[in-house]
Amino acid sequence: MDWSVLMFLHMVGTLAVGFYLVLPFVLGRTEKLSASAREGTMNVVGSLNRLAQYGLGIQLLTGGYLMAKGDDYSLAWKIIVPVLLLAMFAVGGMMAKPLRLAAAGFRDNGNVAAETGKVKTLSALLAVLLLVMVFLMVYNDII
Ligand code: HEM
Repeated sequence: MDWSVLMFLHMVGTLAVGFYLVLPFVLGRTEKLSASAREGTMNVVGSLNRLAQYGLGIQLLTGGYLMAKGDDYSLAWKIIVPVLLLAMFAVGGMMAKPLRLAAAGFRDNGNVAAETGKVKTLSALLAVLLLVMVFLMVYNDII
């Protein structure tokens, strides 16, 4: 396949995972909402999280091709980048359950502090992982 087509698809994937950069800010603004509005937010974030995971899948496939075609990446880069991606997959997956439990808790007027706390921590971690990833993408000769 053409290099530029792969790069284009890689940028489309980047847009999809960009959700993880804005998520901590979105969650920060939900505190003052009613329980039913927060239930809706948790549901929507759950769907977007799944979409972003498809984006991660695209990044792994297209990035893998790009990496295989170029031969100027160090071994460290070729190891750290896929590991970072798998970490993002794992953390996104770990966030799905507390999102579901928090939505159910808001619906039943239960105590969801533990779940929303987990969602916030994991979303912050995802934002940091994404920033490190994009840094390594742009400055790919730094390691
Ligand atoms: C969250 C996941 C990812 C994001 C957001 C991302 C983002 C980007 C961006 C913005 C660029 C353009 C950088 C530039 O041209 O200066 C890029 C290039 C690239 N990415 Fe990714 N990427 C991700 C995952 C991956 C993975 C997992 C791989 C490899 C397995 C990979 C391999 C590459 C390669 C080889 C390039 C071309 C770098 C070059 O030589 O210019 N990417 N990526």
